[in-house]
Amino acid sequence: MTDPFRPLKNALGRFATGVALAGCADRAGRPVLLTVNSFTSVSLAPPLVLWCIEKKASTFIAFMAAPGYSINVLKAGQRALSDRFAAHAPEPIGADEVERWITGAPILKDRLAAFDCAVRDRHDAGDHAILIAEVLRFDAGPGAPLLYFASRYGEGPEAEG
Ligand SMILES: Cc1cc2nc3c(=O)[nH]c(=O)nc-3n(C[C@H](O)[C@H](O)[C@H](O)COP(=O)(O)O)c2cc1C
Repeated sequence: MTDPFRPLKNALGRFATGVALAGCADRAGRPVLLTVNSFTSVSLAPPLVLWCIEKKASTFIAFMAAPGYSINVLKAGQRALSDRFAAHAPEPIGADEVERWITGAPILKDRLAAFDCAVRDRHDAGDHAILIAEVLRFDAGPGAPLLYFASRYGEGPEAEG
């Protein structure tokens, strides 16, 4: 069956992005993670970011209910994590692989950068919701990013400084 959205997806996919795992804690405090490339910066003062979640995602209810979320920017060598958390019902992340900062959302110990964020606004937007949040804590480390372009992975240059 042909996908009627393929031409639009092809054009949108020409915009190269990084890859991140968005995370939150569910009502029982368990870590929930989802591969995303819709993450973007919004404002510096106050520090605001956003990403968009598909309403059909099995993690939608958890993210809509969570008061905070994390963004874990993946390194070039972390493609397996991207694939794992883009799959339905992935093997949960190990407790020893994550830490918790302020909001309780899971922060990957191995990451290029991380942001722990308090949700400020949830906007209905077609078949997605836009989750705008204030960055409460962040860090950035050395390494090269995992990139996503035209439905394929790539590798970016090493970060400087
Ligand atoms: C590189 C990449 C980027 C993605 N970006 C998003 C995104 O920004 N928002 C989103 O809701 N899903 C995104 N997805 C899809 C989800 O990771 C996931 O595949 C989807 O929620 C299916 O899981 P489910 O069957 O448990 O609902 C992306 C997938 C990949 C591979």
